[in-house]
Amino acid sequence: MKNIDELIKNVEKYKNALIQQNFKSKKNTVAYVVLDGKPRIVKWFAPGFKRQMETEYSTLRKGSSILNMPISYEKDSDNNVLLMNYIIGENLCDVINDGKTVFSENQRIMVLLADWFARFHRYFKTEDQFYIRGDSVLRNFILADCIWGVDFEESRAGKPVEDIAGMCSSILSTDPMCTSEKFQLCKTFITAYEDSVKWNLENINEEFAYALLETMCRRGDKLSKKEADEIVKRINL
Ligand SMILES: Nc1ncnc2c1ncn2[C@@H]1O[C@H](COP(=O)(O)OP(=O)(O)O)[C@@H](O)[C@H]1O
Ligand SMILES: [Mg+2]
Repeated sequence: MKNIDELIKNVEKYKNALIQQNFKSKKNTVAYVVLDGKPRIVKWFAPGFKRQMETEYSTLRKGSSILNMPISYEKDSDNNVLLMNYIIGENLCDVINDGKTVFSENQRIMVLLADWFARFHRYFKTEDQFYIRGDSVLRNFILADCIWGVDFEESRAGKPVEDIAGMCSSILSTDPMCTSEKFQLCKTFITAYEDSVKWNLENINEEFAYALLETMCRRGDKLSKKEADEIVKRINL
């Protein structure tokens, strides 16, 4: 992954950017900067990820005036950069997994998160298909006075259950993993989502087990399908 300094040094329009914070990112380079006196998130896409940049830009353009998603000010196709507004808050992965966050607060957050997904799916749904956010992991949410979603490069047509299963897999598999509290949080999240939408989450158990296998496999951890099914059963849906 490249360093944001490289962009600032080599591209005239970013020359005056003052770096405030670098973010953890899987493959892109993401930083909070002050550019021409304005706070901005710079998302510099890895080479070969132009299509993902287009997807993120069009999803933000469509959703950000209605939903809690960043506003994208500029798509700089020459340099593979998106400029967005900076959402002040705490990363949801850190909040949920912080031992100091009390259980009732995590439960409240689960209901807010379910509401974020219900709104997203409702807004982007067309007559014949659903559109999902993709890459549904805790790290792609920010907690301020409400919940904000970020990172829409994997948004696509799909089934809402894929997003919900992905989210539960992220909740369970981030450290501390699979605690009894985490199982309850997943249940609260799923129930709150189901209560606020008109459609069903088809095959949630199967999708959840599949999402868990995928998450663990990506991390290089071994998990059998049987073990994944056992874990999912503990949620008692
Ligand atoms: N608009 C934003 N405001 C505040 N923080 C953001 C914003 N966009 C991204 N971030 C932070 O940067 C991190 C990485 O950005 P993200 O778009 O998820 O990149 P990647 O696709 O590489 O995962 C996020 O997890 C989040 O913490
Ligand atoms: Mg991300």
